[in-house]
Amino acid sequence: ANLVAVIPAAGVGSRMQSDCPKQYLTIDNQPVLWHSVCRLLAHPLVSQAVVAVSSVDPYIADIQWPEGKPVHIVEGGKERADSVLAGIRYATSQCQADWVLVHDAARPCLRPADLNNLIDSLLAADQGGILAVPVRDTMKRAGINRVISETVDRNALWHAQTPQLFPAQALEQALTQALAAGANITDEASALEWLGEQPLLVEGHADNIKITHPEDLALARFYLSQDVI
Ligand code: CTP
Ligand code: MG
Repeated sequence: ANLVAVIPAAGVGSRMQSDCPKQYLTIDNQPVLWHSVCRLLAHPLVSQAVVAVSSVDPYIADIQWPEGKPVHIVEGGKERADSVLAGIRYATSQCQADWVLVHDAARPCLRPADLNNLIDSLLAADQGGILAVPVRDTMKRAGINRVISETVDRNALWHAQTPQLFPAQALEQALTQALAAGANITDEASALEWLGEQPLLVEGHADNIKITHPEDLALARFYLSQDVI
């Protein structure tokens, strides 16, 4: 199977409150994006990467990618889903992708073992799915004026992460149709759910954080300094 990694990296990182978009902040002298892409390319079944960036991105050209596997750069879009779709279109039309592995640029701490497990499980099942972790806290639904209206059954709740791995043509069609219909698409699985499909949950680890707020950078630096990651 030809797996192509698609990495949306066209966001501005407004919640991070940094002048430089978070995917270009550095950990061990390399941008967060570089770490995220290298972790995907390290898997033997991932043949190449497609990175979607802003049309006015001044940083991407300076990145030194590792030798061996191509890294293609395409122009992203207004929302994350638009950037992902631009990357997938390139992956299917130019890279002969069978499967696309979509991963946020802002998640540099993906464990190699979790990536292995995701790919092995979904290729064996011949079905799309996502890395996710079970919710650990008791969950409450808020009512008006922030009173607790109920305790939600935690056993059925998972945090969706990336990577998300899908057959390339199926995801391209689902995203195209869902976006055209104005559906609220916040990850790849939601586009297939919108079509009535049931992607699989593959259990990962909570340290696969999406760098979002200023304090997350130090946490990512810590996780990346740990052997297991
Ligand atoms: N992304 C993208 N194109 C967009 C918006 C987001 O490629 N139009 C990417 C981001 O670069 C990031 C990933 O999607 O790697 C996850 O999005 P998020 O964490 O929300 O990043 P930002 O949108 O940049 O941050 P914020 O929402 O705080 O502005
Ligand atoms: Mg965003």
